[in-house]
Amino acid sequence: GLPKFVKIVEVGPRDGLQNEKTIVPTSVKVELIQKLVSSGLSVIEATSFVSPKWVPQLADAKDVMKAIQDVEGAQLPVLTPNLKGFEAAVASGAKEVAIFASASESFSLSNINCSIEESLNRYRDVTLAARRLSIPVRGYVSCVIGCPVEGSVPPSKVAYVAKELYDMGCYEISLGDTIGVGTPGTVIPMLEAVMSVIPVEKLAVHFHDTYGQSLPNIMVSLQMGISTVDSSVAGLGGCPYAKGATGNVATEDVVYMLHGLGIKTNVDLNKLMAAGDFICKHLERQSGSKTAIALSRI
Ligand code: HMG
Ligand code: MG
Repeated sequence: GLPKFVKIVEVGPRDGLQNEKTIVPTSVKVELIQKLVSSGLSVIEATSFVSPKWVPQLADAKDVMKAIQDVEGAQLPVLTPNLKGFEAAVASGAKEVAIFASASESFSLSNINCSIEESLNRYRDVTLAARRLSIPVRGYVSCVIGCPVEGSVPPSKVAYVAKELYDMGCYEISLGDTIGVGTPGTVIPMLEAVMSVIPVEKLAVHFHDTYGQSLPNIMVSLQMGISTVDSSVAGLGGCPYAKGATGNVATEDVVYMLHGLGIKTNVDLNKLMAAGDFICKHLERQSGSKTAIALSRI
């Protein structure tokens, strides 16, 4: 049966904003995070400690962290691609981090400038340092269905990378369809492969909505026992190193579907929509959430 509660991991301030060309002021990022916390979301990815040359939008990671030090009621993880990023994150007050590997060699090279094996070696250093400080680490696998260069990615490769991250101590593994090409037809066999090596309660799904397949993909993931779903307020986003990839599935749409299924999320949809409205007004853009657009007409 379906889970009774789904944990939503809000990635808007990170995945959503990282691809925005115009620099969003730190104060706007901070207000967005505060609004998301007050909507009831329990996990909000706040920013990334990556190279500012690679992702200029998140060059203010330190300032964002400083401004949200006293925010209570939510976990606020940050992305760290290496030990340098991990150390900077911890120095800035991060209490949780996320590492990100790829199931596709080409995407690993274009996203973090190293091979999959080299990235796993770096992440072993990060998870070791994190364990010493009792900092929880979340692990991402990118390109779990397809890669912008290599095309289809074999489920066995996804299971291999996911297991490596799990074995190095990640408390949760998020499976990312970075370019949003998956359908239930490809998502089910991928999940079966990963579930044969990692307990389902340790898994999360992370869909980008490029082909409009996220909600059916989430539905089959729930049916297979997954109860953690990543999404981005107003459907913001896209990966800078995955050309043509659009935003994550919109959090408002996920919440609307889950509540419709009688599944609890602890998220107040109206407050969530206010957060989405706030950032869309700032970006001068219509929301990428169909639910937000529909409900704002009523
Ligand atoms: P590199 O150029 O190979 O790094 O980049 P390097 O070690 O050779 O260092 C080069 C310069 O970067 C040096 O500075 C380092 O100090 C600096 P310089 O001497 O030239 O002034 N540097 C750093 N600065 C700040 N923070 C750091 C850091 N590390 C080195 N942590 C690197 C390698 C991994 C750093 C780079 O490729 C990078 O930052 N990549 C991040 C790309 C990224 O953020 N992508 C988007 C997130 S992943 C995603 O969106 C997918 C996901 O959503 C799931 C899904 O959808 O599938 C998670
Ligand atoms: Mg993503």
